[in-house]
Amino acid sequence: MIVGVPKEIKNNESRVGMTPAGVFELVKNNHTVYVQSGAGKGSGFFNQDYQQAGATILDTIGQVYAMSDMIVKVKEPIAEEYDLIQKGQIIFTYFHFASSEALTKAMIASKSICIAYETVEDEEGTLPLLTPMSEVAGRMAIQQGAKYLEKPVKGRGVLLGGVPGVAPGRVLVLGAGTVGIQAAKMAAGLGAHVTILDINMKRLRYVNDVMPSHVVTEFSSEFNIRKHIQTHDLIIGGVLLKGAKAPNLITRDMLKEMRPGTVIVDVAVDQGGCVETTKATTHEDPIYIIDDVVHYCVANMPGAVPYTSTVALTNVTLPYVLKLANAGWRSACNLDKSLAKGLNIVDGEVVYEEITEAFNWESVLA
Ligand SMILES: NC(=O)c1ccc[n+]([C@@H]2O[C@H](COP(=O)([O-])OP(=O)(O)OC[C@H]3O[C@@H](n4cnc5c(N)ncnc54)[C@H](O)[C@@H]3O)[C@@H](O)[C@H]2O)c1
Repeated sequence: MIVGVPKEIKNNESRVGMTPAGVFELVKNNHTVYVQSGAGKGSGFFNQDYQQAGATILDTIGQVYAMSDMIVKVKEPIAEEYDLIQKGQIIFTYFHFASSEALTKAMIASKSICIAYETVEDEEGTLPLLTPMSEVAGRMAIQQGAKYLEKPVKGRGVLLGGVPGVAPGRVLVLGAGTVGIQAAKMAAGLGAHVTILDINMKRLRYVNDVMPSHVVTEFSSEFNIRKHIQTHDLIIGGVLLKGAKAPNLITRDMLKEMRPGTVIVDVAVDQGGCVETTKATTHEDPIYIIDDVVHYCVANMPGAVPYTSTVALTNVTLPYVLKLANAGWRSACNLDKSLAKGLNIVDGEVVYEEITEAFNWESVLA
């Protein structure tokens, strides 16, 4: 198969769909890989690295799309790319169709085979191609939170780890899923006191088993949240209700109960946030302050660490890329039910029910 790796042209996206290690594996399996010149630069991978791994560098995005059977990328195609996509071409990337009717219509019209990272689902119902980005965001939440606790950026002026003779900072983590556990682990590593809340007792039992004793679990309730926000310096929002808006666990009135300079990092902002006062921000202007509480609500946190994010993402996408290249999409999806769940639009037909539901279209599924 001929596999193409274009440069991401969405604003502020520095990740790339394949590393030189991925190229090496594909070439070893007798596939051809075309990489657009400069595609990996933002993630620290240069043309020469790809060439050494066996790729051919092409100058333009148009050439990559025109010459490839399968395109492997990161973000959904943007309007400039719509016309480059060919009939029957496999596009393997994050699509998030339900959030864009224009994209959905364009991909239907293209008659391509759209396989979405975010809907590939394993037997336990987890989403293996989303997990690494939650891991990145969870760990990064503490790094960012620690920074915004500093006084010059209006934080409380607290060092998370404390020093001998001074108590450490206190971190409250809402949700003990992937984001929450990674955040708790980083905060604990810095020496902070951590309280982690969830409504899922299985998750709390797990956290209790694997974390050190300065990570304390409690059941998530309004009562407990109201109590803890008064004494914690940094609050991480990492809750998720699958397919729904995140619940508002912290309401506007609660901000007044927090100490001035408390920092909230609402990682769940991409699902509407779990704090009533959350509104999405960007890496250029990541915070705003309401009632003396610092809000950090960047919707694409992994974008700030493209090297780590690219490697983390391609570690999990590559096995699927290889299956698609080796067997073709039909056989690969027949053999691998997790991958089959990634099929969203096939040859002009929507095959993923939630998309038609999102736009109130009549289902076209059999
Ligand atoms: N901002 C970003 O850049 C970024 C990056 C990655 C992920 N995210 C988002 O972070 C959020 C969390 O992702 P995840 O992978 O950790 O999800 P996850 O499913 O692994 O974990 C979510 C946890 O929230 C818990 N939960 C649900 N309701 C709760 C409540 N009322 N109180 C406490 N806990 C509750 C669930 O039981 C679950 O353990 C998602 O919205 C995800 O999209 C954002």
